[in-house]
Amino acid sequence: GKGSYRHFMQKEIFEQPVVIGDTLQSYVDPLSRRVTLPEMPFDFAQIPRLTASACGTAYYAGLIGKYWFEQMARLPMDIDIASEFRYREAPLPENGAALFISQSGETIDTLSALRYTRQEKQHILSIVNQPESAIARESDVALQTLAGPEIGVASTKAFTTQLVVLACLALAAGRARGSLSSEREAELTSALIEVPAQASYFLEREAQLIDIANEMADASDILYMGRGSMYPLALEGALKFKEISYLHAEGYAAGELKHGAMALIDEHVPIVVCAPSGPLFDKTAGNIQEVIARGGRVVLISDSQGIEAIGEGVTHAVEVPEVSPFVAPILYALPLQLLAYHTASIKGTDVDQPRNLAKSVTVE
Ligand code: F6R
Repeated sequence: GKGSYRHFMQKEIFEQPVVIGDTLQSYVDPLSRRVTLPEMPFDFAQIPRLTASACGTAYYAGLIGKYWFEQMARLPMDIDIASEFRYREAPLPENGAALFISQSGETIDTLSALRYTRQEKQHILSIVNQPESAIARESDVALQTLAGPEIGVASTKAFTTQLVVLACLALAAGRARGSLSSEREAELTSALIEVPAQASYFLEREAQLIDIANEMADASDILYMGRGSMYPLALEGALKFKEISYLHAEGYAAGELKHGAMALIDEHVPIVVCAPSGPLFDKTAGNIQEVIARGGRVVLISDSQGIEAIGEGVTHAVEVPEVSPFVAPILYALPLQLLAYHTASIKGTDVDQPRNLAKSVTVE
C-alpha cells in the first residue's frame, strides 16, 4: 500500500535513498571501492561502439549514460528512441554491443529494437527492473535495478536506479578500456556511495519546493534547461512535469536557448535551471543572466556555492547538497520529481494514473 503517503508516486520518490543504496550494493564493492559486474558476454575493451535504445524516461536515463560512457570510458555510444531505432535500419558494427533500458522490460518498441540488434549480431545487454520480463529473457545479460515494484505511472525510482546501473557500467567500461585509473574509479565510486545519504538529506527539505509548485501551477508553459548531463535531465524534468500536471513543459540544452526558444522568455514563463557547481557552471550561469535580463523567472537548482555565485536575480533557489558532477544527475532528479509531483497535487490531477497513459506500453 501507500502507507502514510498520499500517492504511490510520493512514496516512490521517498524510497529512493533505500533503493539507490540497494542497487549500489549489488554493483559496487564498498571496501575496494570498485565496481563489480556479473560476467559479461563481451569485453568492453573490444567493442567499437555501444548502441542503446529505450523509451520515455528510460531513454533519458540512457542519454545521461552517453555522457558517462563517452567521458569516462571513451566508448562511443549512440542512443535513440526505440520507436525510431526499430525502423531505421541502422548499420551496426561488427562485435558491437547493444544496450536496452526498461523498467517493465515489456515495452514493445524497446523489445523490437532489441530483436533488430539480435539479427544484426550485436551482444545484448539490458537494464531492467523486472527480471522475469521479455527484454530480460532475450538479453545476453540483464542487469537489474533494485527499485522494487513501481506503481505510479510516472517513473521515479526506476529512473534513478537506472542511472546508478549506467554509472557503474560506465566505470567498469572505463577500467576495461584503460581510460580510468583505479584512484579515479575509487573516487567516483565513493561519490556514488554517498548519494543515498545526500538524497535523504535533500528529501527532508522537500518543503522548499511547495511554494515554487504553487507558482508553477499558474503558469501555462515551463522551460527546463541544463548543460552537459544536466541537459538530458532537463528533458526528463519536463517530461515528468507535463505527464502529471497536464501543463506544457519543454527541456533545452542551455546553449541552445538562444537558437530559438529564448523568444518565449518573459515574466510568464518560469524556467527551471539545473546547474551544479563544477566545470560547466560558468557557462550555464551566463545563460541564466541572459534569461534574467529578458525578464524571465528563474528557478535555480544548485548547491550553496552555485546559488551564491548567481546572487540576486533568480526568483527561487533550491539548494541541493554539493556533489561530484558525475553523480549530480542522480541527485538533481529529486527536485524535478518533487516539483512535478507538488504541482500536480496542487492541480488535483490523478497523479498515479495520469489521463491517457499506461504504466506498460505493450502495443505500438
Ligand atoms: C515517464 C514514464 C515513461 C516510461 C516509458 C518506458 O514517467 O514512465 O516514459 O519511462 O514508457 O517504460 P519502460 O521503462 O517500462 O520501458
